[in-house]
Amino acid sequence: MAFVNEDYLKLPGSYLFAEIARRVASFKDANPEANIIRLGIGDVTKPLVPAVVDAMHKAVDEMASVETFRGYGPEQGYDFLRKAVIENDYAPLGVSLDEDEVFISDGAKSDVANIQEIFGKDNIVAITDPVYPVYLDTNVMAGRTGKLEDGRFGGIVYLPCNAENGFVPSLPASKADMIYLCLPNNPTGTTLTKSELKKWVDYARETGAIILFDSAYEAYITEPDIPHSIYEVEGAKECAIEFRSFSKTAGFTGTRCAYTVVPKTVMARTKSGESHPLNKLWNRRQTTKFNGVPYVVQKAAEAVYSIEGRKQIKEIIDYYMTNAKIIRDGLVEAGIEVYGGINAPYIWLKTPNNMDSWEFFDKLLNEANVVGTPGSGFGPSGAGYFRLTAFANRGNTIEAIARIKTRLNLV
Ligand code: MLT
Repeated sequence: MAFVNEDYLKLPGSYLFAEIARRVASFKDANPEANIIRLGIGDVTKPLVPAVVDAMHKAVDEMASVETFRGYGPEQGYDFLRKAVIENDYAPLGVSLDEDEVFISDGAKSDVANIQEIFGKDNIVAITDPVYPVYLDTNVMAGRTGKLEDGRFGGIVYLPCNAENGFVPSLPASKADMIYLCLPNNPTGTTLTKSELKKWVDYARETGAIILFDSAYEAYITEPDIPHSIYEVEGAKECAIEFRSFSKTAGFTGTRCAYTVVPKTVMARTKSGESHPLNKLWNRRQTTKFNGVPYVVQKAAEAVYSIEGRKQIKEIIDYYMTNAKIIRDGLVEAGIEVYGGINAPYIWLKTPNNMDSWEFFDKLLNEANVVGTPGSGFGPSGAGYFRLTAFANRGNTIEAIARIKTRLNLV
């Protein structure tokens, strides 16, 4: 009989969003008439914008003709999209990149999950707490942690983010080799200024750590002086890998397209002290395990950068951020302590009356028929907190807040 990967057995039963979906489905079965509003998983609701759809249609037509049909594309992405990424997302920030430093993929989730494969098993992982669960779970699966005890995995450096520290993590107090940062943060909505981020880059350069920087929500930054990319910080090209996505920026959650930047100057070493560029290892990993994003999808992603595409996408981001303001303001009026929602499409709130996160989840679902995400699902420091997303349509957003105010009996 085959043996299982016992590291998987260290994980709690199901992935956070799968558990929420299970609970909501069972509530729906028991209450088929309930009009459920979903502010749980960060999934967009607005359709793809016309510029993207037009480009996709054209690409489909190309695939239908023998002269323009394409089979396997480059595993790293087509040059047209890698170029568009550099010219539109990085050049305006003063960041120069080579095309072979940009890897197009089917999602930031896959990339942040897979990146750990190119690191040795003995590296110590640091994560903020609360955190997007994929960073932690994939390192558990890879055997980089001990067991789960009192809500924490052995061997992981947890960097607590709470109201006391303004949800800003401190530098690791003990050795850390792989540091995951998500900014603007999912779930808390926190951002760091350039000088705050510089401390992390300086730390990584001094200690030889690598920063795995998830900036999937950078398009939601509304305040000035917040870096959109870690490469805006001097020295980051020596120590950081950056993940970006078209999912939340351009409504690609169901279409799937993202990219990862691995500068050729980011090095890690063997136990015997030899330096190796991570770009080469990631390229090796992707060419072996991934066959590229469909041509049709990459053409659609390229259109995100067209003049029309940018304008149309900006309107949608503004729409979601108006939702975020409606949620924030409504919760404040209801006497709830709120964070985030200014540079991110997530609103992080303190559960009223010190309720446990899952208890509040059940109350919200049962009494207001609104789905959110329990803060404790993001880590032990998320206990007593809760996350709502701004990605619903306007009517549902307004209705959800009205129900929270009138049905929950909070005061
Ligand atoms: C979330 O709700 O945190 C995100 O939608 C999850 C994801 O992007 O995979």
